[in-house]
Amino acid sequence: MNILGIESSCDETAAAVYSDGEILSNVIASQTVHERFGGVVPELASRAHHKTIWSTVEQALSEAGTELRHIDYIAVTRGPGLLGSLLVGLSFAKGLSIAHNIPLIGVNHIDAHLYANFIEHEESYPFVGLIVSGGHTRLVHVKEPLKHDVLGETRDDAAGEAFDKIGKLLGLPYPAGPEMDKLAQDGNPGFHDFPRSMMGKGLDFSFSGLKTSVLYYLQEKDEAFIAENRHHICASVSAAITDVLTAKLKRAAEKTGTKQLMLAGGVSANSMLRKKTGILAERSGYKLMIPSLQYCTDNAAMIAITGSIMARKGMVGDLTMKPFARLET
Ligand code: KG4
Ligand code: ZN
Repeated sequence: MNILGIESSCDETAAAVYSDGEILSNVIASQTVHERFGGVVPELASRAHHKTIWSTVEQALSEAGTELRHIDYIAVTRGPGLLGSLLVGLSFAKGLSIAHNIPLIGVNHIDAHLYANFIEHEESYPFVGLIVSGGHTRLVHVKEPLKHDVLGETRDDAAGEAFDKIGKLLGLPYPAGPEMDKLAQDGNPGFHDFPRSMMGKGLDFSFSGLKTSVLYYLQEKDEAFIAENRHHICASVSAAITDVLTAKLKRAAEKTGTKQLMLAGGVSANSMLRKKTGILAERSGYKLMIPSLQYCTDNAAMIAITGSIMARKGMVGDLTMKPFARLET
């Protein structure tokens, strides 16, 4: 079974081909137009998707050594994300579906982050998944394919958003997460004790208090101090965020009694989080799945593999499919 995956929910235009357990191509066109605005500008994102989507899909097909006539399903992101951006991918996919008579599958982007793990790990259930991206932070208990209970969620900022907003306060370019991670590797995580919000309570998260606490901390320091200690501040902030994420993942594992844990989404690329959850898994005897770096942040390989699981379950869509901006369940 050959599946063409298409992703355009935010600022990456991506296409990939998945065929019987193997990713044959995984093309990502990242938009650089947003850098000078310090965040994604929705209108510019839609226009950039429009410009690059055809060449991205063509490249994915050609790198996979295949053509549209050999594609069995087109899997495309329906949401959540920016509506204008989603519409470009979805409309394009519908066009291909009509022109080449290929069935369509509408994929949930957040599910796809989770199932990206099955590109490199054997598909297995049940598991507790921690999805940590730029827009979402949630803990889910997945008992069978595409069926989950939500265990916890952020009440304000997502973990990636916290990295990005705090990085911006430190003068780092958007998105600041990867750069904070790099700087933190040379810093002292114990340099300053930033708050670990909701650490002792339940399975929900809150990161906006941390952002405010970093803002107040920086307001008391002069520029020279911040420049000299940026790596230590990045390490201390990363420690606060990853301590909370790891503690909640542990609590969720204990609550559900699962033996398998999964990280997913852009922040699962974070080296401190990978290390701490690795230690947690080793100490408690859990199997831990984390995608390799290329499958942590937005990509279309994750859309294609999720499409394959949906196809197996007969979850095929049609031309009436609409995009959705927000997660409902
Ligand atoms: O999953 P993703 O690519 O897009 C969304 O669906 O949101 O996640 C993007 C987020 C951004 O906030 C980015 O700063 C963060 O993931 N991120 C990281 C790292 N790599 C990406 N955060 C911390 N450490 C990283 N290494
Ligand atoms: Zn994402």
